Amino acid sequence: MNKGLLTAAIVSISCSSALFAAESCDDTALHGYMEHIKDEMRSMSSDIKSGNSESASKHVNTLIMYFEKSRAETPYKFTAEQMQGSELKNNKADYEKVINETISVLKNLDVALQSGDQSEVRKWLGAMGNQRKQGHSAFKANC
Ligand code: HEM
Repeated sequence: MNKGLLTAAIVSISCSSALFAAESCDDTALHGYMEHIKDEMRSMSSDIKSGNSESASKHVNTLIMYFEKSRAETPYKFTAEQMQGSELKNNKADYEKVINETISVLKNLDVALQSGDQSEVRKWLGAMGNQRKQGHSAFKANC
């Protein structure tokens, strides 16, 4: 490789990795909270399957805490689409609303766990799946 080509290759590699670092959507605080949410959901489900409602309830409370933290973050999609002004404000309000609904589903799930009502537990677990679908289709960037 001649010197010019080598320089071009180095510049191109370093630029593309710099671009990746600036535009990456998997290194946001929100992405980190979501990974914890995924793990907590898994632990909670396996506690429910093995009949350990007390431990499941602890995971529900941890989930609420992570959704509260997530509510204070801005989805990467809003930044990537360079939303500003009223568009940003309205989308943030919609996002917060879906998070608040998710927290109330979790509170209902906790009540069901405390009372040992299995059909209510199933109902609210199903509702969590819907919250996930709704939240991701509206606010998650395709990356
Ligand atoms: C059971 C519920 C949920 C689970 C298990 C979950 C899990 C995840 C996971 C694992 C990711 C990382 C990317 C991926 O692998 O797809 C993610 C990203 C994301 N989730 Fe969720 N999620 C849930 C609910 C929600 C809700 C209710 C919302 C919004 C109201 C939401 C908004 C987002 C957004 C915006 C991202 C992209 C991260 C970013 O913009 O920085 N998620 N989620």
